[in-house]
This record gives sequence, C-alpha cells and structure tokens, in this order.
Amino acid sequence: MQVDVAILGGGAAGLFCAGEAARRGRRVLVIEHGAAPGEKIRISGGGRCNFTNLNTTYAQFLGRNPRFAISALSRFTPQDFLARIEAAGIAWHEKTLGQLFCDGPATQVVAMLRKGMEAGGAALWLNTTFGDVTKENEAFRIETSRGAVVAARVVVATGGKSIPKMGATAAGYRLAESFGLPVTDTRPALVPLTFAEQELEWLRPLAGVAVQGCMSVGAQAFDEAVLFTHRGLSGPAVLQISSYWREGQTVRADLAPGADIAGKLRALRAKGGRMALRSALSEALPERLARHIETVSCLEGPVGAQSNAALDRLGAFVHDLELRPVGTEGYRTAEVTLGGVDTSALDPRTMEAKSLPGLYFIGEVVDVTGWLGGYNFQWAWASAYATAQAV
Ligand code: FDA
Repeated sequence: MQVDVAILGGGAAGLFCAGEAARRGRRVLVIEHGAAPGEKIRISGGGRCNFTNLNTTYAQFLGRNPRFAISALSRFTPQDFLARIEAAGIAWHEKTLGQLFCDGPATQVVAMLRKGMEAGGAALWLNTTFGDVTKENEAFRIETSRGAVVAARVVVATGGKSIPKMGATAAGYRLAESFGLPVTDTRPALVPLTFAEQELEWLRPLAGVAVQGCMSVGAQAFDEAVLFTHRGLSGPAVLQISSYWREGQTVRADLAPGADIAGKLRALRAKGGRMALRSALSEALPERLARHIETVSCLEGPVGAQSNAALDRLGAFVHDLELRPVGTEGYRTAEVTLGGVDTSALDPRTMEAKSLPGLYFIGEVVDVTGWLGGYNFQWAWASAYATAQAV
C-alpha cells in the first residue's frame, strides 16, 4: 500500500485532517485500531458534542508554550468549523460561555467527518494496529497488522492517554521519542479531584448537591458549577481547576460568589436575628448545603445568638473554603491529557517536526491542552487543518 499521507489515529484530528487533505487531492489512509472511528466525539459533551467555543484564543490553553497554538487557531476559527456543521445540516445551540453543542446526537459530527473523507476518496482502516515507523530515503514505512504501508508523509493523531478503555494509548508519544523528539511530562486533566477520608467525611454527605461556585488555585480561578460527589468534588469548575492543581497544593472554593455571607448574617443579627442559621444561609446556598454547614460549624442557636467573630468564620467557610486534594481520578475518567509532544520541536504553521520533514503531530498528542468547553476539539480541528494544507 502506497499513499501520499498516512494518518495514525482516526479520532477528531485524524478524521478532519484526512478529509481536508483528500479534498486537496492527496491519497490518504487513516489507520485506526478501534472498531469505530471518532469514539471520543461520540461520547463528548454528554453525547451532544461541544464541538467548539466561540471565545477561543490561545489564552484558554495550557502547555509549555500556549502561544504555539496562535497560528493554527487563527487560520481555522470556531466560525470556520461552525460553517462545516451548518453545511452538513447539523442543528446546534450555544449553551453557555460560547460553548456550541449539537442539538442532536454527537454521532452526526462523526458522520460529517466520515463523509468528508469519503468525498475525497480517503481510506479508513479500522481494527488495524501499527508498529514500527521508519524513514527510508524520502518516504516512511509503517508496519501495520494489515501489512506495510509506504507514505510520503505521516501524521500522528493518536490523541492522549485519557480513558484507555476507549482505545487511548501512548503510541504517539513513543513514536515521537523513537525519532528523537522531546515529549513533556503528561498528566490527567479535566478530571475530578479526590480527597483523604478526613475531608471526605464532610464532603460525602453532600453528594448530589451542586452550586454555582468558584474554584481557584493561586491566581487561576473558574466560576462554574461545583458538584459534590461520593468520591469528592466534580463539576465544570473542579475539572477546570484540576488542570492547574499540582500534588501538595490546596484549592480554594467560594461556594456563593458575591453573596457576602458574613455581611448578611451580621445585618440579620443587628435586626434581632431570630432566624435559624441554616435558613439564613439557604438564601445564598442550596438548603442541604446550608444545613450541613450549620451542623459542621457546631454553632447552636439562631443568628442573633452568634458573635460577630463566629459569623465571620462562617462567611470565610462559605467564601474561602480551603481543600487539600490527595489526587485525581486519573486517566480512567480524565477528559484530556496535559503535556505531550514538545511544541518547541514542531513548526507552528504546519505541525511538522522541525528535525524530520514529513512527520506531523496534531490534536491532543501535542503539548497543547484546552480548558473545558469545546476548546480541545477546536484545537483538534485547527491543528488538523494546518497540517492538511501542508501535506
Ligand atoms: P482522539 O482521542 O479523538 O483520537 C485518537 C485516536 O487514535 C482514537 O480513535 C484512538 O483509538 C486512536 N489510537 C490511539 N492509539 C492508537 C494506536 N496505537 N493505533 C491506532 N490507533 C490509535 N473536547 C471538547 O472540545 N468538547 C467536548 O465536549 C469534549 N468532551 C469530552 C468528553 C469525554 C468523556 C472525553 C474523554 C473527552 C472529551 N473532550 C471534549 C476532549 C476531546 O475528546 C479530545 O480532546 C479530542 O478527541 C482529541 O482529538 P484527537 O484526534 O487528538 O484524539
């Protein structure tokens, strides 16, 4: 089998790159070890695929050099991908914070990408593993379970390590290293945080409670939903902050941003304060949380029976709760992988390895990781597009 472009991995980036390169007349083959392509697209966004974010800039990305993403992101924008979605007749809506979702199932996006490939005559090998990749003269030779493939260009789109059960592997990182390219440390991101038994003791009774909160680590903060679970904390704000948290650090939670709990309690106290603490707290917090905070604070009696210092402590508890995670749920549930092929080794306009012409890395395998909210797919589309114009 001889092709112009062999793409390793049939996920978001691989499928889109295949369609775009085929459209430019390239003979393209995608090699995917799963039984179906685009499996993460299928389950993304709760089955509705948050396929892009209108507010995308390089500022929503982490990595050794987030500015690396500027070139690709500016040449293929959220509006460009949205135009593809609309041309395919896929109904969509903006949920919040610029996040665009399909109205219907996420599989529509996979079907659209497959159609793009088919229109250009790109081939897709499923259930196919690849082994050694070597460069011979001007071409690459890829050993696969279906025999050798010779390709003028190889695009590595094998994604990150998150959710091994869905076919995630470290193959792309290993391939980069086999050609001498640097790979930065990888770690699970956009992942629930876990806690020691001591903290779980008071978190666990709240399982199922959700608040619009603010989670922060140092100067980085996210104002989004916080969800209490049996294992600790989850929800968008927690997933977002997990990308910034490192072992040993504390995270801070404001469970009622802008509510000035201490001020309100003091005002109630000044007016006589016969209201129960839990009732006063539940004006700004879900009732279960309010009751729980009253219990763990060990304060007895109504608002009026408390000292100002006690009310201030309650306010601090709600607005500046210090938590010390012991870890994360790991790659088993992480939405993405931080780190990857070091961007210093890649050309930002094409994603081509500077030291090895003809070898490209796109999507999550690269050390470019987005916030929650459609940014990771936008990076997959944009990096794939940049490479498709170059191969
Ligand atoms: P992707 O993981 O999509 O594709 C890699 C492909 O390579 C896979 O098909 C894999 O099977 C294949 N592969 C791996 N190793 C191989 C090997 N050795 N041989 C052959 N094939 C191999 N992002 C977002 O922007 N909006 C969202 O709504 C969501 N939602 C979401 C939910 C969940 C549960 C997860 C886990 C992730 C998300 N994401 C997301 C993140 C998003 O799915 C992710 O960033 C992109 O899919 C990355 O695209 P890639 O093509 O780089 O990797």
